[in-house]
Amino acid sequence: MKAIAPDGVRVGCRTIRDGDETHLLPEEARSIPTRRLEMRRASGAARWVARGLLADFRINDFAILREPSGAPVWPMGITGSLAHDDEMAVAAVAPVSQIRSLGIDVEPAEPLSDDISALVTIDADVASVAIDPRLAGRLLFSAKEAVYKAVYPLDREVLGYEDIAVDLTTGYATTRTGRRAWLTYCVSPRIIVLALVSA
Ligand SMILES: CC(C)(COP(=O)(O)OP(=O)(O)OC[C@H]1O[C@@H](n2cnc3c(N)ncnc32)[C@H](O)[C@@H]1OP(=O)(O)O)[C@@H](O)C(=O)NCCC(=O)NCCS
Repeated sequence: MKAIAPDGVRVGCRTIRDGDETHLLPEEARSIPTRRLEMRRASGAARWVARGLLADFRINDFAILREPSGAPVWPMGITGSLAHDDEMAVAAVAPVSQIRSLGIDVEPAEPLSDDISALVTIDADVASVAIDPRLAGRLLFSAKEAVYKAVYPLDREVLGYEDIAVDLTTGYATTRTGRRAWLTYCVSPRIIVLALVSA
């Protein structure tokens, strides 16, 4: 993961394990309405990772609340993002002086079904890069989720997959709302995408 993080961006991951729900601070738990243990476990794991990254900026024990939109609330001067799939939780943080906003996503490195790929992909997407072509659909999906998480805090606008065009050959995505995000990613052992909006 470190290989995909540009200067100034801290990233981390954790295999989600039994008991990770206890890593949710009480105020975080109150801000997360779901009662499903697996979801609280994943959210706890991601926040545990993020708190470790914030400590690099000498920010300790910060409660990363979830606002009603779903977006996490970061300390002043910091942008960040969380994601989890069934097995892995990831987080990224950066100073807003270096990165205006960022988003992260994690997905298993498995092909997406044709049905979902068709829902996610638009004509403007370009996915012809040197990866296993069976993973292209999943990589586009993950890139759009990461872009959405990066731009939502800036525009407060809900976007669909059709509102985000991803060009993996240039490494940029553009949104209907006029935002441009730079993408970095890996596809092994999992697909992880970072979307970065410049300061
Ligand atoms: C943001 C969203 C795409 C996340 O997808 P997901 O598969 O449910 O979950 P992920 O594991 O990838 O990410 C979860 C994290 O996303 C973050 N998140 C949720 N809503 C967010 C938002 N509006 N802005 C930024 N980050 C957000 C949270 O930190 C969350 O972690 P938490 O549940 O521990 O608090 C989804 O929750 C959502 O809001 N979808 C509506 C819009 C949409 O789907 N458009 C099509 C994709 S572009």
